[in-house]
Amino acid sequence: MPVVIVDGQEIEIGANERLNCIEAARRAGKEIPHYCWHPGLSVVASCRMCLVETGQRDAATGAITMVPKLVPGCQTPVRDGTVIVTESDTVKASRARVEEALLIDHPIDCPICDKAGECLLQDYHFQHGQPERRADLQPFHSRKRDVGPTVTLFVDRCIMCTRCVRFTREVTGTAELMVTSRGAKEEIDVFPGHPLANKLSGNVVDLCPVGALGDKDFLYQQRVWFLKREPNVCGGCSAGCSIHTEHNQDAVYRLKPRENPHVNTWWICDEGRYGWHHLHDQARMLEASRAISSPTHGRTAATTPATESIEWSEVVTKLRDDLKSAGRLAVAVSPMLTVEEAWMLCAVARSIDPEAFLALGFVPTRGADESFPGGFTIRAEKCPNRKGVEEVLALFSAGGRSWNDLVDHVSAGRADAAWVTAAYPTPWIDEAGAAAFSSLAQLVVQDLFDSPLMQLATWRLPAVGFAERSGTWVNVAHHAQSFRQAIRPPAGVWPEGRLFWNMLGRRGLYDVNAVRQQIATSSPSFRALAGELPSTGVDLRLHQIA
Ligand code: FES
Repeated sequence: MPVVIVDGQEIEIGANERLNCIEAARRAGKEIPHYCWHPGLSVVASCRMCLVETGQRDAATGAITMVPKLVPGCQTPVRDGTVIVTESDTVKASRARVEEALLIDHPIDCPICDKAGECLLQDYHFQHGQPERRADLQPFHSRKRDVGPTVTLFVDRCIMCTRCVRFTREVTGTAELMVTSRGAKEEIDVFPGHPLANKLSGNVVDLCPVGALGDKDFLYQQRVWFLKREPNVCGGCSAGCSIHTEHNQDAVYRLKPRENPHVNTWWICDEGRYGWHHLHDQARMLEASRAISSPTHGRTAATTPATESIEWSEVVTKLRDDLKSAGRLAVAVSPMLTVEEAWMLCAVARSIDPEAFLALGFVPTRGADESFPGGFTIRAEKCPNRKGVEEVLALFSAGGRSWNDLVDHVSAGRADAAWVTAAYPTPWIDEAGAAAFSSLAQLVVQDLFDSPLMQLATWRLPAVGFAERSGTWVNVAHHAQSFRQAIRPPAGVWPEGRLFWNMLGRRGLYDVNAVRQQIATSSPSFRALAGELPSTGVDLRLHQIA
């Protein structure tokens, strides 16, 4: 194996690995400071913050020959025998000078800058900068430039790393951003009449190492040190991008991409990034209710059954009784549910009616899959777990049944009761679509918001959003990722999993891990879920062969 020597420490790298000095040093636990380099973008080596000393160890004699100048670590590949020195006086002096040069023109407006607390310029100043400032503080102008619907540019804070420019050229292929002027007058700008309006635009805010690019949705909402972050999965489409949900006091403030080479690399789309506001929508369903009396046939939105609120502890028993006495049951298992929730729902349904008709719930789609030059794809299927729910249904011998099959089943009068799980963040069914369910003796609808179908329901149950549930989602490429609840649901709302857990007669608090273990041991499809999953998830297909 090739060996690289980092500050005297030998580390092995793969025979075919192509690493630069920054990446090799990380393997040795050494962080080389850098601004312009990003693993997902081309290398420009313009900021000079990553300068290190390098050399080569002779394989035969062991003698080391050093390069007589500093080299950019981001641009220098390593090979067997490469020597990297990251902590010499020369290297430290170089970093301090780069910091000093950047800060001469940088406004010291950290108290009002959104980036404070997670700013590389700030962090590197304390880690690598000079203790005293040799130039006078200049009055600053926090010039702002509206570069697009999602992003504001604070011109004077920019250190010209050009990560954002390269992103729009290399990843989105839209090239809205550019560098204007030259030398000390260089600035980032958009081309006239072409704002930064691509579907991945929010990523430039994450890429900006300082506070030059501000996310309009997050601007001045919260100091970052108050935020807690939970590894999570985006529920916006079937790509299932890895994200961090950043929250404080049960309120989400922003979503950030979480690096995952198997799914989304370093990016997420704007639709996913800003797709959390429904969690705090005032119109959400907040209490469980049950029809006091209702006509069993020909209900319409105009003859909506009168309901009264009911405690969740009563829902657990009375819902089962109502469905059992109604007769034949049909259940729509929403692709917004986790694998664990879907499995428990099917088990509950079969315990009520052993012949219950189980089908995949409504699968929302919009347009076609959209791929970008950098390899990122936004999926047309706007739900995160169709694959997972289909696998669960197959375990109950109900694979292949779709939402349309369920509607046909109900329309043909082959069911007396239906339980429709939904949890969709946007409207998904109209009155015509709901009409098929108007003649059922019992209709249970579990959703985030009111809908024409909810108006027909004899049982109206609130659902929870993506950040409020725990479990596993399986994306369009069979990649499974487990996650935990980031925030608590609104007061009075039980997550679906908690209801199903109680309806199965399980004791104690809902234990998602126990359910996952049970599924993994009972099904080859989910064998991979038996152990502790890596944070980047697993490909279920790789574990299905005994
Ligand atoms: Fe190497 Fe900027 S990170 S020169």
